[in-house]
Amino acid sequence: MQKDLDIFVKLVNEMLEDEVANPVVAPIPIEDLYDEIDIQLNDEPMIDQDFVPVLRKLVLNTPKTASKLFFNQLFGGRNSKAILGELLSVIMNNSMYTYKVGGPQIGVEKTIIRKISKLVGYDPDTAEGTLAPGGSMTNLMGLLMGRDAKDPNASTDGMSKRMISYSSAESHYSLPKNVAFAGMGRDNIRFIEADDHGRMRPDLLEIAIKEDIAKGYVPTFVNATAGTTVLGAFDPLRPIGEICKKYDVWFHVDGAYCGSVIFSDKLRHHIDGSELADSFTLNAHKMLSTPLSCSIIVVKDKKHLYDTFANKASYLYQTDNDEYNPGKISMQCGRRNDTLKLWTLWKSVGTNGLEDIVDHQFDLAQKARDYVADNPNYTLYNTGDSVAVCFNYKDIDPKLICNALYDDAEIMVGYGKFRDQEFIRLVTVNASNSHDDLSNFFKKMEAFVEAKNL
Ligand SMILES: Cc1ncc(COP(=O)(O)O)c(C=O)c1O
Repeated sequence: MQKDLDIFVKLVNEMLEDEVANPVVAPIPIEDLYDEIDIQLNDEPMIDQDFVPVLRKLVLNTPKTASKLFFNQLFGGRNSKAILGELLSVIMNNSMYTYKVGGPQIGVEKTIIRKISKLVGYDPDTAEGTLAPGGSMTNLMGLLMGRDAKDPNASTDGMSKRMISYSSAESHYSLPKNVAFAGMGRDNIRFIEADDHGRMRPDLLEIAIKEDIAKGYVPTFVNATAGTTVLGAFDPLRPIGEICKKYDVWFHVDGAYCGSVIFSDKLRHHIDGSELADSFTLNAHKMLSTPLSCSIIVVKDKKHLYDTFANKASYLYQTDNDEYNPGKISMQCGRRNDTLKLWTLWKSVGTNGLEDIVDHQFDLAQKARDYVADNPNYTLYNTGDSVAVCFNYKDIDPKLICNALYDDAEIMVGYGKFRDQEFIRLVTVNASNSHDDLSNFFKKMEAFVEAKNL
């Protein structure tokens, strides 16, 4: 073990050093990949003398998602305390289904769930929660609970009614996929139009629900998004929650991207009404800078988690007190310890420190928006609080800029679309970035566009 740990430390140090000098890795063309790096598996073993250089090449050629020039996705940066927790959970290798196997790690998870439940606005004594591998999966858990709450026979006999789900046209693609997975039929999701800021329109939601009732269908599940994938917009939770209550529909909040505003006194107003939600998803691996993945779902009434996910298994549950056997409320059987990394971070910086991490990302985005708004070469496509800054530069095709930046290993940034407008989407979730790092992004991009004559 010690030998491999030494290899690990050496490789990590090399990688960190390399990341400063080369924050963006030159992409290997797919057709050259297996010639460039010895990835193929052989019948014969490889001795460390040969193996380590291959591993080094693999590591140094992998995209650097924590570097100061990675703005491409909704995660980024690297928090060393969170990494400490993650590495320990890998070494300990517990499975989070029973207290017998998870021990105090189950207490770590329950502590986090209680805290988050309270911040969402639930009573932590009646709420409960768990983790799944990503926001797509925690959204699926919300949907399944909504389906079973509406029709408890759905999970035993199958679907007997046409059960309808609702989500904004700007919501994440996991929503339609999940509706299909849940056996509810991909055509039975209504995509509700968003307003000019990308927020779901509650008036149109109510109209759609009424239309479905009139047709004899069963409105079952509404998803509202706290931080839409492209614009980072917040759907208005309170009016949506009131409509759900009126029509007895499960109300889920997909806060995978920006649900972490629960930690910020300044920003919490964006999720006003969160306590009305039946379930709430939050990805710490997005705004809270933990490694992938750390996706949490909290549920207002723990009963629903047990109703949908509990199953008997005498070979697994061999101790009493199911409250401490979270396998009973999980989608999975074996489940990796995804909470320790959030606990080590949270313990070390306190709740106030998490608030700073969240606020800083919004502050970075505001700086970027100010820069864009003050510069006539730019067009800005979204205003207001959001950790996504959507803009175009000199009316140049955003795909052209983003793809050229990637091909030339300059910056990793992506593009997005709202209605028929396409733009560059700069994501400021790397909390270790500074204002200077953002200025550097713009200067570098502008110089690149001029040099390449795009
Ligand atoms: C709004 C929203 N929900 C859900 C997800 C899915 O989260 P994950 O990538 O953890 O599955 C994303 C991912 O970007 C997202 O933006």
